[in-house]
Amino acid sequence: MSAIPSLDLALPAVSTAAALRETIAGWRKHGLTIGFVPTMGALHAGHVSLVDLALQRADRVVASIFVNPAQFAPGEDFDAYPRTLTDDADKLAEAGCHLLYAPTPDQIYPDGFATRVTVEGPARELESAARPHFFNGVATVVSKLFNQVRPDLAVFGEKDYQQLLVIRRMTRDLDLNVEILAGPTSREPDGLAMSSRNAYLGQQARKSAASLHAILQKLSDEIGDGVALETALKRAREDAQTAFDSVDYIEARCADTLSRLSDRPDPAAVRVLGAVRIGGVRLIDNMGVVRR
Ligand code: PAF
Repeated sequence: MSAIPSLDLALPAVSTAAALRETIAGWRKHGLTIGFVPTMGALHAGHVSLVDLALQRADRVVASIFVNPAQFAPGEDFDAYPRTLTDDADKLAEAGCHLLYAPTPDQIYPDGFATRVTVEGPARELESAARPHFFNGVATVVSKLFNQVRPDLAVFGEKDYQQLLVIRRMTRDLDLNVEILAGPTSREPDGLAMSSRNAYLGQQARKSAASLHAILQKLSDEIGDGVALETALKRAREDAQTAFDSVDYIEARCADTLSRLSDRPDPAAVRVLGAVRIGGVRLIDNMGVVRR
């Protein structure tokens, strides 16, 4: 079923941009619209919900799996990142995804590759403070994938909220003509945001990990109740310091731009975001604020 040599996957799959374009051209000839879900694999229910959303809005859905070296710094988990292609293909097939694009590295970064997409604006601070290489790596691979797939729409998870805003800004700034849809964060029963990296959590760290959601929820509720930002943030940062090995940031920012806010902003315009470390694993999460 698959065009990937030596692999029998549960859905049609291609590993070259030429084969991808051929399939997509066939769909376009019939006037079908294309939805796209880019991933790095190690798929979970959160990714499946992004495919579901794409299927609601497009006639055909392509998911990509590519562990993108450009968004990992030396010493990060590029080599250890889980690679589970056969299981991922099963999940995509069950979700009703029409095509898997699992490019070989040379399809994304051919010999002599010398171009980078650089994003500022919403890419500043937060994730960039700990991972300065990250958003330029993401922007470069996503623009490359958009050029290969040429989708009508693409779905990104709100779990990576800063990434979602960065992709929206890049798509607008470069006139990429792709509608960007946001998929709500999928959570475990205790509130932990689903993430491929949760697989790294040991038993004890896994128990503590759910506190991030609880801390952000309390912060969101307090801001929604009209508590001054600095007061609510101080409490949330103290709670996070107690619960985790270290805290990269606990912040409340403008939901549209991630810029800093006045001390008493309109609650509906606020997004609370956090990144912490526990048991050697970095967790991120975020949520909106509702005026209460
Ligand atoms: O969110 C991810 O999984 C990755 O950052 C993405 C968008 C697939 C780019 O490699």
